[in-house]
Amino acid sequence: MTFLIKLLVIIMNINVLRLDHRSKRDARITTHVCLTSRAFGASKIYLSGEEDEKLMKNVEDLVKRWGGNFQVEYKKSYMNLIEEWQNNNGEVIHLTMYGSQVQDAIEEIRESPKDKLIVVGGSRVPTKVYRKSDYNVSITKQPHSEVASLAVFQHMLMDGSEFDLEFNNAVFEVIPTVEGKRVNINEEKKNKS
Ligand SMILES: C[S@@+](CC[C@H](N)C(=O)[O-])C[C@H]1O[C@@H](n2cnc3c(N)ncnc32)[C@H](O)[C@@H]1O
Repeated sequence: MTFLIKLLVIIMNINVLRLDHRSKRDARITTHVCLTSRAFGASKIYLSGEEDEKLMKNVEDLVKRWGGNFQVEYKKSYMNLIEEWQNNNGEVIHLTMYGSQVQDAIEEIRESPKDKLIVVGGSRVPTKVYRKSDYNVSITKQPHSEVASLAVFQHMLMDGSEFDLEFNNAVFEVIPTVEGKRVNINEEKKNKS
């Protein structure tokens, strides 16, 4: 990767759209979609399907504890969001096992300076999403999960720079260690949160 592309990756605006959330069935996996998006470098997630205030509050609380500015917003009409995103010169990457293979598509996507909206589905994804997306991208040609596909795609998009991300204003910060657990606790921020 050239220096310029590295820079582009660091300043890239990455958002995620999660389709078709069902409060009862998907609470755990949608939470994991949110946390994975954040940990791997997205600044915001849009949730569509059933509105789930409890889930959104849980994610916001986690952000307060673990830092950064990750946002979560409910969008009733995801097609409006996709259209707005593209009208504002952003591009839409829909992750699906039927798409072109990530190893073939990633370079072009990474090198484009446009903001990225990464779309992952829940149950069946409507054809209009495939048609409207700028890219339909597969992470292997086998069915698996929205969490796995997001993690691998974001990792390839960021080319590993997500490992160096800083999450500012955190109450908790893990200190990597070979054995046991070490966590720095910022008492001042803890009392404020
Ligand atoms: C459990 S799958 C359901 C897919 C659904 N059966 C369909 O026809 O769209 C949920 C989501 O995981 C993601 N996903 C699963 N396998 C994938 C793969 N091999 N490549 C990319 N994304 C994948 C897609 O975003 C998909 O919408």
